Amino acid sequence: MGSRIQICLLVISFQILLVATQMNNLDFAALNALKEIWKNIPLNWVGSDPCGNSWEGIHCTNSRVTSITLASMGLTGQLSGDIQWLSELQTLDLSYNNGLTGSLPRSIGNLTKLSNLMLASCGFSGPIPETIGSLQQLSVLSLSSNSFSGPIPPSIGNLFNLYWLDLTGNKLSGTIPVSSGSTPGLDKLVKAKHFHCGSNQLSGEIPSQLFNSNMSLIHVIFNDNQLSGKIPSTLGLVQTLEILFLSNNQLTGPLPNLTGLNSLNYVDLSNNTFDKSDFPPWVETLQSLGTLVMENTGLQGQIPVAFFNLPLLMRVVLRNNRLNGTLDTGPSCSDQLQLIDLQNNSIIDFVPGMRFKSELILVGNPVCEGKQGIKPYCSIQQSNFSYSTQPNNCVPVTCKSDQICSPSCRCALPYMGSLILAAPAFDQENSSIYMSLENYLMSSFRSHQLPVDSVSLSKNSYSPVLRLKMFPYGVDRFNRTGISGIGLVLHNLTTPYSDKTFGPLSFIADQYVYFAASWDSNKSNGGVPQLKGARCFSFEELKKYTNTFSEANCIGSGGYGKVYRGTLPTGQLVAIKRAKQGSMQGGLEFKSELELLSRVHHKNVVSLVGYCFEQGEQVLVYEYIANGTLKDSLSGKSGIRLDWMKRLQIALGAASGLQYLHELANPPIIHRDIKSNNILLDEYLNAKVSDFGLSKSLLYSENCHITTQVKGTMGYLDPEYCMTQQLTEKSDVYAFGVLMIELITAKQPIEKGKYIVREVGQKMDKAKDLYDLHEILDPNILGTALTGLEKFVDLAMRCVEEGAGRPTMGEVVKEIENIMQIAGWKLNVDTVSTSVGFEGISNHPYSEESLIIYGRALAR
Ligand SMILES: *[C@@H]1O[C@H](CO)[C@@H](O)[C@H](O)[C@H]1NC(C)=O
Ligand SMILES: *[C@@H]1O[C@H](CO)[C@@H](O)[C@H](O)[C@H]1NC(C)=O
Ligand SMILES: *[C@@H]1O[C@H](CO)[C@@H](O)[C@H](O)[C@H]1NC(C)=O
Ligand SMILES: *[C@@H]1O[C@H](CO)[C@@H](O)[C@H](O)[C@H]1NC(C)=O
Ligand SMILES: *[C@@H]1O[C@H](CO)[C@@H](O)[C@H](O)[C@H]1NC(C)=O
Ligand SMILES: *[C@@H]1O[C@H](CO)[C@@H](O)[C@H](O)[C@H]1NC(C)=O
Ligand SMILES: *[C@@H]1O[C@H](CO)[C@@H](O)[C@H](O)[C@H]1NC(C)=O
Ligand SMILES: *[C@@H]1O[C@H](CO)[C@@H](O)[C@H](O)[C@H]1NC(C)=O
Ligand SMILES: *[C@@H]1O[C@H](CO)[C@@H](O)[C@H](O)[C@H]1NC(C)=O
Ligand SMILES: *[C@@H]1O[C@H](CO)[C@@H](O)[C@H](O)[C@H]1NC(C)=O
Ligand SMILES: *[C@@H]1O[C@H](CO)[C@@H](O)[C@H](O)[C@H]1NC(C)=O
Repeated sequence: MGSRIQICLLVISFQILLVATQMNNLDFAALNALKEIWKNIPLNWVGSDPCGNSWEGIHCTNSRVTSITLASMGLTGQLSGDIQWLSELQTLDLSYNNGLTGSLPRSIGNLTKLSNLMLASCGFSGPIPETIGSLQQLSVLSLSSNSFSGPIPPSIGNLFNLYWLDLTGNKLSGTIPVSSGSTPGLDKLVKAKHFHCGSNQLSGEIPSQLFNSNMSLIHVIFNDNQLSGKIPSTLGLVQTLEILFLSNNQLTGPLPNLTGLNSLNYVDLSNNTFDKSDFPPWVETLQSLGTLVMENTGLQGQIPVAFFNLPLLMRVVLRNNRLNGTLDTGPSCSDQLQLIDLQNNSIIDFVPGMRFKSELILVGNPVCEGKQGIKPYCSIQQSNFSYSTQPNNCVPVTCKSDQICSPSCRCALPYMGSLILAAPAFDQENSSIYMSLENYLMSSFRSHQLPVDSVSLSKNSYSPVLRLKMFPYGVDRFNRTGISGIGLVLHNLTTPYSDKTFGPLSFIADQYVYFAASWDSNKSNGGVPQLKGARCFSFEELKKYTNTFSEANCIGSGGYGKVYRGTLPTGQLVAIKRAKQGSMQGGLEFKSELELLSRVHHKNVVSLVGYCFEQGEQVLVYEYIANGTLKDSLSGKSGIRLDWMKRLQIALGAASGLQYLHELANPPIIHRDIKSNNILLDEYLNAKVSDFGLSKSLLYSENCHITTQVKGTMGYLDPEYCMTQQLTEKSDVYAFGVLMIELITAKQPIEKGKYIVREVGQKMDKAKDLYDLHEILDPNILGTALTGLEKFVDLAMRCVEEGAGRPTMGEVVKEIENIMQIAGWKLNVDTVSTSVGFEGISNHPYSEESLIIYGRALAR
């Protein structure tokens, strides 16, 4: 099936191609296949010439696609096997799109020109296909923070040009593959500088064959796996090694002799059991050692004085071991030394060397027994260091909603993420290093001409994580091109080509949800609608406000799609109607709908807050009306009980809203679907007319009526309209009459085959009290004073008369006011009724039926 779709796509694409010129057929077909299955693609991916029209994220050379860089785009979907047709592709960067899921297609192995494959922090799973071993040009393979499982394919050993291998943070299992006979293995990667394989489920021994003297590894990172056995002595052959992470495995002793690794700077072997290992004598030969972390490793014996002479030594963390004797830092300990943490060992005394001025922690050693508070090293001083970028010679301003004040004191929506210092080789409590990191980042962005105005970093002492914010230049937000460019540069800076000063960094981006909202425009959709008061939202924003359209936020659904409750950054609640595929209207229709909705402003009419029309989505954002539909109140479903006066108020409100649409809106609007489901009640139980989806502006009509297909809801439908299909305001008056009957009977217009209007007409006896309607009236108001009810029934019956006899909505409003006065209503009384009873909790305010909008659903 999958392949049939692919073939099908290709055929379609080829047809389009006959008209396209320059562009390579297969490239175009492949991009189209991706476009079909991905959501949130760049908006300018239209037309048939990705190279000529410079599709965002696509780079071409000689009309062939050579690079796809779409980091942090919010892409969702799978990676289609059709990617294989991009035979000139050199760079594929889809990092930080956690909505990209599924497995890596085997056909990725056909991209033989590929030299950078960057899929960090996506949602890919399944095995890494062994075809990856065919990518002979590959120099960067970055698959970190996905859910890849199964073994590391031995074929990776064929990637002779590989420089950077990053498999961190997956679910890879099995042993580390090494070559044997004709089977390749990682030991063949003599150009590789980086093996980053931490946080997986790798097991077995680290093969001694993995390391040899021909290698150029600088980072060997296998922490947080299930590796066992001893560390092979061959590691000592890798003269280039700078950083070694083997912490949190099940490794055992003895430790290998690493004498001669003169570049080794950072070693973390914590949480392994090198049982009964003495403090290794070769450590004091490591002239570049800056950091030694070996907590909980079973180390025993005395720490040699010479160790502290290492010229670059900065941090020593050897907690929870069995180190004993007297701690002596000697006469010439390192100037750089900042921390010696020996908590929970067996140190019996401390002899400070002359130059010793670093922080020392000996809590949990015999030397501290009974000495807390006496010796400074016998208590732990929580560092209070924190760093945050200071304003750049300007006065910070207060920003609204999601915006943040930049170091240049401008409000904007920054691209943010966490920058993790994996093996910092500097004083982490010295602000100057973070300032130089900022400068380094800025100069990198500048040299790539990225629209970054400024960056800010913040950190507190308890965490190796820095928060990085990058602010846009000149505008309040980045566009997709900007974000993908930054993503690529950060990837370059933080991984393959990182600056040595800062040690290996990794960047984990937050999703950027602020891409400028846009109007999916092409010829048939028209230009961006000009709306007063209604806002254009980006789809990413709406996703954020609805918790990614989560089920928990869903407050109604229907043939049209779903309605979600959302919260804007201002705290305003909104109801977000998202059309589902198949129920969308054309762009022009949507636009005219919006223009109609946005013109309507009345306290008894639900108002439009905004809309979204991009990425193939049609979404309307309305004010949120707290107490649901009138129907739910009348039926008892919402738990709200309405007394007679409240019902009169609701009738008056709804009538006023409708009068506004008919008489005051310019041009006038016929609602066409007045019913108890479309009257919403706010927190004060004021009526609000909603759902103009079926409404038609009278602007273009000739004889004050519009001929249309009959739409609306059974029971409320004007019989004359049904017959003549001629729509006038009087059809709304008819439906309003039915609504009035509903207000006093709490019955649906058609119930058990009986039509309520006819029932009332037949039953009523004007000679009797309450026109003798007791049987039909809502028991909830029966027995209370129903002053004016007869006049109310008279008015309702006039509304459902033949067309010419019906009152206008203006007349209806006057008459209801009149009835209310008779019933004892005094003007200026507090409209927040005190006589409303609440029981239970309201159900979904936006019910199935109230969703019939855009005239898609016909009368049922
Ligand atoms: C992809 O590779 C497979 C196996 O190596 C081969 O059969 C197929 O023809 C290749 N496809 C393309 C488009 O080169
Ligand atoms: C290192 O490379 C040389 C020359 O390419 C080769 O002869 C030798 O066998 C290699 N050694 C190892 C351990 O692979
Ligand atoms: C470690 O190796 C070096 C040379 O490679 C050697 O001189 C030294 O004796 C060895 N140390 C131990 C404890 O085996
Ligand atoms: C060692 O294990 C402990 C307990 O699981 C953990 O808190 C600590 O962070 C680990 N140390 C390192 C360096 O990973
Ligand atoms: C330190 O521990 C080692 C090994 O357990 C032991 O041989 C030695 O006697 C201890 N030294 C002192 C001073 O306790
Ligand atoms: C030291 O040991 C004590 C008691 O066993 C324990 O509570 C504490 O967490 C240990 N300290 C560290 C840093 O692991
Ligand atoms: C941080 O701690 C030092 C002493 O440890 C103290 O002098 C300083 O005032 C503290 N700073 C803050 C911001 O708390
Ligand atoms: C902080 O680091 C800089 C170099 O990065 C150094 O010049 C300065 O003396 C350091 N400051 C402190 C307080 O250690
Ligand atoms: C994206 O932003 C950059 C700089 O802010 C601008 O030069 C470029 O034209 C924008 N691209 C699009 C497609 O809007
Ligand atoms: C990444 O770094 C490499 C090597 O320095 C360079 O060739 C490439 O152009 C860089 N890419 C970006 C986007 O900075
Ligand atoms: C009606 O709205 C008010 C204000 O939001 C709220 O306090 C009340 O609980 C709501 N009633 C029901 C039944 O939801």
